[in-house]
Amino acid sequence: MKDARSIKEDFPILAKEVYGKRLVYLDNAATSQKPRSVIQSLVDYYEGYNANVHRGVHALSMEATERYEGAREKISSFIGSPSTESVIFTRNTTEGINLVANTWALANVGPGDEILLTEMEHHSNLVPWQKLAREKGAKLRFIPVAADGTLDLSDLDQLLNHQTRLLSLVHMSNVLGTINPVKELASKAHALGAAVLLDGAQSVPHMALDVKDLDCDFMAFSGHKMLGPTGIGVLYVKDALLQQMEPFLRGGEMVKDVQLEDASWNDLPMRFEAGTPNIADTIALGAAVDYLQELGMENVHAHEKQLTSYALEAMAELKEDMEFYGPEDLSVRGGIVSFYAPDVHPHDLGTMLDTEGIAIRAGHHCAIPLVRGTLNVPATARASFYIYNSEEDVDALVASLKRALTYFKRS
Ligand SMILES: Cc1ncc(COP(=O)(O)O)c(C=O)c1O
Repeated sequence: MKDARSIKEDFPILAKEVYGKRLVYLDNAATSQKPRSVIQSLVDYYEGYNANVHRGVHALSMEATERYEGAREKISSFIGSPSTESVIFTRNTTEGINLVANTWALANVGPGDEILLTEMEHHSNLVPWQKLAREKGAKLRFIPVAADGTLDLSDLDQLLNHQTRLLSLVHMSNVLGTINPVKELASKAHALGAAVLLDGAQSVPHMALDVKDLDCDFMAFSGHKMLGPTGIGVLYVKDALLQQMEPFLRGGEMVKDVQLEDASWNDLPMRFEAGTPNIADTIALGAAVDYLQELGMENVHAHEKQLTSYALEAMAELKEDMEFYGPEDLSVRGGIVSFYAPDVHPHDLGTMLDTEGIAIRAGHHCAIPLVRGTLNVPATARASFYIYNSEEDVDALVASLKRALTYFKRS
């Protein structure tokens, strides 16, 4: 893979200074930065062929349609989908999960049924299921998190049972970095007749994966965390389930024929894309996928693993003052390091690092049950890595953390 220094040159924002200091961007789990090729593809669309898709007979519309559907083909092959029909464009991961809750789950989950989640879910894979369970008289159950930050599967046979209709879980935790054994869990769930949804928000941007191999029924992810623009996400749905699902939103684009009292549905996947889609951002997500594929997802994952290992080693001397979270076994961990210093609120730590040009995240990371419940802390500070981060960035983080800890301990 190209080295981080030359990758950085492809990202205009990374040349920026913050408070006169070199920007060290370590908030990639929240959103990634965008390479020049992605930004340029937005400009190309608006300057060169801005038009609506699917319904035009003129040149601009045909070009826009070709590139929009071309992006679907790129994304479909990126995740190993057997067909482009299984790739539905959404706004983000959150919308993808809500789509499943309001379509497949609405029709397939009933009173007494169980939905199995984990204690490490982002709110977007928790709150939609709370509503569905309440309305359907179904029960939510949770796989606990062990002290080492992995899932505690000791009671799995009891938690995953004949009542389970859906197992919905995060592939890689945005707080702990844990990569869950989703393939094994999917196989167990399917043997009991349950469907499987993967929250791929943190996995799709950072590792090679194949939905056929994982054998998930649904997988939701967000373009903005994988070098693409905000406002575009993807929901993969396995063909057999897609055929039975009722549309989510209704209106233009998703119909084949309409009478005053009734309507019939368009072909897949347009049936699930009501209204004018987010054309420019979809095409730009295609450019983001091109960029990642050029680097190679195996290389992306290896780079982040190496950086995480380097960071954990460099931060080891801070262990006296800080608690670190997430598995020590790097074979089940991605590029996320969360930590908490009892003497310093994570927000103070984040603010202090910011004055040195270092962007990290502080808070509950939209996983309140995990952070305030399981980890039992008010918040954590989190550094998350991507392709353009280097050991130099980690060194800057560690030096700044040391200065901050010394300062707050003194005051
Ligand atoms: C694991 C995980 N799931 C879901 C989401 C929600 O993504 P979005 O806000 O793009 O819908 C995030 C965002 O941080 C995440 O990290």
